[in-house]
Amino acid sequence: LRDLLRQLYLENQLASKDILYILNKVDDSNKEILFNYAEKTVLKTYQKKVYLRALLEFSNYCRNNCYYCGIRNNNREIKRYRLSVKKIIKCCLLAYQHGYRTFVLQSGEDDFFKEDILIKLLQRLKSNHPEAAITLSIGEYPYKSYQRFYQAGADRFLLRHESISKELYKKYHPDMSYSRRLQCLKNLKKIGYQVGAGFIVGLPGQTNKILTEELLFLKKLNPDMVGIGPLIPHPKTPLAGSQTGSVDKTLLLLSLIRLLLPETLLPVTTAVNTLDKKGWEKGLKAGANVIMPVISPAISRGKYEIYQNKGNTDVSNLSEIKKRVERSGFKIDMSRGDSLKCLKTK
Ligand code: 5AD
Repeated sequence: LRDLLRQLYLENQLASKDILYILNKVDDSNKEILFNYAEKTVLKTYQKKVYLRALLEFSNYCRNNCYYCGIRNNNREIKRYRLSVKKIIKCCLLAYQHGYRTFVLQSGEDDFFKEDILIKLLQRLKSNHPEAAITLSIGEYPYKSYQRFYQAGADRFLLRHESISKELYKKYHPDMSYSRRLQCLKNLKKIGYQVGAGFIVGLPGQTNKILTEELLFLKKLNPDMVGIGPLIPHPKTPLAGSQTGSVDKTLLLLSLIRLLLPETLLPVTTAVNTLDKKGWEKGLKAGANVIMPVISPAISRGKYEIYQNKGNTDVSNLSEIKKRVERSGFKIDMSRGDSLKCLKTK
């Protein structure tokens, strides 16, 4: 195990059977070796910088029915909301005034937000804040729409592929297409976005073999960002009562992703911090370098319930984040924080 971890650290790649071996063998007695290599790697590429993103959940309407997600269309027991363009612009201004230079606009796949209204929103945001980065996390759209969003000012796009196993994808995403999802990621890359992919940790049926495929898929895709997080079963979904995904396993996977993709931007996602009070700290120690505080306004609080007990951060409350990051040995960086990969190709 030690030899393989060292090889992975030195070469940033590894054969499938060796990754599987690591996933099978790594445990509490030896995981620190992995975490140390991952931390050393992130310090080499991004130094001690931890980037902050203001995450704004602007609509919880969704046409899809993902088996794990509380805002799935069939869940009639949550209150739906959607913020107006005016309100979204106001929230971003507030985030800007508090120092944020990346706005992540996230929503369910909401048919209300058609191309035109999103373009209007993006153009206004871009002209208000030309030096800020805009990240979309709004799901699947046709190639042409992605292209227009990009032209209107969107810089980055998060679209988790959720599961690289065709079988699991089909099982947990009724009426969605595995190949279309992956095609969307390719389209986004081709258009020029900084692209984020990622998967859920601990979906029932997910084996170490599938996780090996996840890691190799990410290595090949080489995205600018990777978002992963543990499954938190929502009581009003078909996966209610399933086992919660493991934070420890997520941390191991974060480290492996850092070693395979030294330059990727890797957030400690909200799900990790929801399950573990020290989630941010542990994630940073495992090679992550991004934190995405949820800054959604009061009217949406508690309603963007993809899982329960999801934390919110007051947009003005940077001091606690700062304290936690600094105690872990890192420094908040409030700049746009583009991916190194994209800066090199510019
Ligand atoms: N538990 C964990 N992650 C979830 N997501 C959605 N619902 C859940 C859940 N119950 C993740 C999906 C989605 C991202 C925004 O949140 O991976 O892409």
